[in-house]
Amino acid sequence: MFYQVYPLSFKDSDGDGYGDLPGVTSKLDYLSNVLGVDALWVSPFYSSPMTDWGYDISDHRDVDPLFGTLVDARTLIDEAHQRGLRVIVDYVMNHTSNLHPWFVESRSSRDNPKRDWYVWRDGRDGGPPNNWVSVFSGPAWSEDEETGQWYRHTYLPTQPDLNWRNPEVVEAMMDVGRFWLELGVDGFRVDAAHQMMKDPKERDNPPAPPDYPRPYKDMGEYDRFIHLYDFGHPDVHEIHRSFRKMVDTYGDDPLTIGEIHIFDLPEWASYYGESFDQLHMPFNFQLMATEWSVPALRATIESVLWNVPVGGWTNWTLGNHDELRLASRVPPGHERLAALLLLSLRGTPFLYYGDELGMRQTFVPSEQSRDPWGGNVEWLSRDGARTPMQWEPGPRAGFTSPDGEPWLPIGPDHETLNVQTELDDPSSLLNLYRRLLALRRESMALRVGSFLSHPASSETVLAYRRESDTETVTVVLNFAFEGQTLSVGSGKVVFSTLDPERADPVKNGLELAPLEGVVVAHR
Ligand code: NOJ
Repeated sequence: MFYQVYPLSFKDSDGDGYGDLPGVTSKLDYLSNVLGVDALWVSPFYSSPMTDWGYDISDHRDVDPLFGTLVDARTLIDEAHQRGLRVIVDYVMNHTSNLHPWFVESRSSRDNPKRDWYVWRDGRDGGPPNNWVSVFSGPAWSEDEETGQWYRHTYLPTQPDLNWRNPEVVEAMMDVGRFWLELGVDGFRVDAAHQMMKDPKERDNPPAPPDYPRPYKDMGEYDRFIHLYDFGHPDVHEIHRSFRKMVDTYGDDPLTIGEIHIFDLPEWASYYGESFDQLHMPFNFQLMATEWSVPALRATIESVLWNVPVGGWTNWTLGNHDELRLASRVPPGHERLAALLLLSLRGTPFLYYGDELGMRQTFVPSEQSRDPWGGNVEWLSRDGARTPMQWEPGPRAGFTSPDGEPWLPIGPDHETLNVQTELDDPSSLLNLYRRLLALRRESMALRVGSFLSHPASSETVLAYRRESDTETVTVVLNFAFEGQTLSVGSGKVVFSTLDPERADPVKNGLELAPLEGVVVAHR
């Protein structure tokens, strides 16, 4: 299982209120020995003016002083490796910061050699070149008064899009990848991996009719258009082929997983490449876009697995730094079912920091808001899912020093939902995750086995079988507020989300308590 560390919020080692790399290193024992994860995805820590909290990079080859130094990055990677943990880092392909020296040069004059490294166009009728809007709202183009042209930005005006149609950009960015692979990272989470290529004719997007289905969540102004021309142009696949070719020169180990916000499954699967020569995996966000009900989840799981190409491998996630906290998206009591679901599907699970504690979305008042997205629009702001990791009870939750001022408020649930308190409570969510991770480590069927829906499934029960050469298990999740008795064949309960001691044999029927999830081993 991968664990996503959002380093700004994980552990502050120097008392400035911002998490940092030495902070992450100091918690590696928690991650590897206490929780028991296999790998980390560490969100950006590169030099950055922090207008999008590190997703606006001004130097790809250095660490921002907020997070430490390059030596700290190397130490984190080495120390993780010593514990058998893999580390992947963000590779922000689509854009840089406007303060990156490449953009500073590009902007300086129309005939600068780096002009074409970004996307510069003349305006149309005194306005932007076309009607494309930024994911974060407002036009996707900003005018530069000095040179009288507009540059494109899929995100903030401080995040100008690189021009991936320019071979010099491709080479420079491949070098960035090489730099981090040389430093020892085990791969990349590729940011905005479907955004880099857009319609070469730059046609206007058609307006979306009011009832046009939203594939995912309410995105504000971005939803006013059908994104026919500014999203996922097929030329993007060539970029992924080049990137993969470069990564593969470092052996079979490094992993590439791309942030692909595409919900049409065949198109999503095309990012594996016809001969598996693109991303190792497109990120699978489907569960987060699915209504939390058994029929809907079942349909999603079956269709994702059906669409993963033969020989391909997928992943599952229920949270990240861009989404509402899991514990606030599912009904009370369902966090435990969510944990079993995430860790028992066929594919690599990705867990967002703090979700193992059940940390909830924190209300962040607008005067304390840090996210450039949303401003006062609470449902757009991502701050509430980025509050500091809760290590212990007390005013700073063990995140920063006693007089440190955390960059975002500490969640009000931290007195009960924190590592220290939960470790002492055998029935806590944290201990549930620990038991589950231990079970998954021991079970070939759960790790790599096939997946088949089980006939015990119903409107309120999600049941599936996982089977390897040597082992067969059935996972049964009771979403009902009543107990149920089901027929799943004989075996033995090896895991329950409610009762850590449960280990009863199953003969004529499996008894499930309300909202209980179990794993039954058949052999
Ligand atoms: C996706 C990242 O996950 C998000 O946090 C960021 O704001 C955008 N890409 C822009 O890099």
